[in-house]
Amino acid sequence: MQLSESQPAGIEISLWQYSRNERDRDRWMQSLSPDERDRAATYRFERDRASFIAGRYLLRRLLSAHAGTLPGEIVLVADEHGKLSLEGRDRPQFSLSNADGLVAVAVAAGCERIGIDCERADTKIEEVTLDTYCSLDERRWLDELPAHQRARAAVELWTLKESHLKALGVGLREDPRTVAFAWKDGIPVMLGDDRYQWHHRLVESGSQHVVALAACSQSGLPGMSIQIFQDDSMPSE
Ligand SMILES: CC(C)(COP(=O)(O)OP(=O)(O)OC[C@H]1O[C@@H](n2cnc3c(N)ncnc32)[C@H](O)[C@@H]1OP(=O)(O)O)[C@@H](O)C(=O)NCCC(=O)NCCS
Repeated sequence: MQLSESQPAGIEISLWQYSRNERDRDRWMQSLSPDERDRAATYRFERDRASFIAGRYLLRRLLSAHAGTLPGEIVLVADEHGKLSLEGRDRPQFSLSNADGLVAVAVAAGCERIGIDCERADTKIEEVTLDTYCSLDERRWLDELPAHQRARAAVELWTLKESHLKALGVGLREDPRTVAFAWKDGIPVMLGDDRYQWHHRLVESGSQHVVALAACSQSGLPGMSIQIFQDDSMPSE
């Protein structure tokens, strides 16, 4: 299913609510590198292992389409902060996120940086936690919202910030309060971006998840396509 916002797509977002079938997982594992298989074996909880395997499988499927190779031939390298790239290439830029049965991947041929994050929309965020990632203005904005909108808005704000910090490659090493948002015509705008090179969007996920995208592009936000990924490589029984 293709939910295109505009064409041509410079940013491809793929969302996958993967199956819980163990045989599917074994099949996905076959595309993973020896390092990834070793890492998969270290997860204590089955849920976390499944999430990691599904994430790397989808990432490899998408990148192999760009590189014209098989998913298992893609060579991924992580920098010292954990940000992945294709060995020896800085394009396409890509980002991966996992949350509770959903994998989200953004692949961008025409952006300098890209970050994606997803979280369950009904994630409960404690009041005390809000202070650890919201600026004073963001706190005030949240406090003025009706109660039924406030909880989701808090998750959206968190997800936007994490997508931005992932695009930068620093992740949560950086204090999320250093990135602040305001809303303009319903679109999140990062404060202090005087060169207007950053673009942030909340993406319609078609699931119980909030998905946020951060893209750095000097020439405006490229066209964006959203694909609900179906694993058609082999039907599960
Ligand atoms: C990046 C980070 C915010 C992701 O957190 P998360 O919500 O648990 O995970 P998500 O599902 O959204 O994203 C996971 C993906 O982010 C990517 N990622 C990891 N570190 C990243 C970084 N520094 N920048 C960009 N992307 C990163 C990886 O592709 C990872 O996928 P993988 O698990 O298959 O390797 C977090 O891992 C982080 O802050 N890392 C850097 C700081 C650090 O080293 N912390 C150690 C623990 S405190």
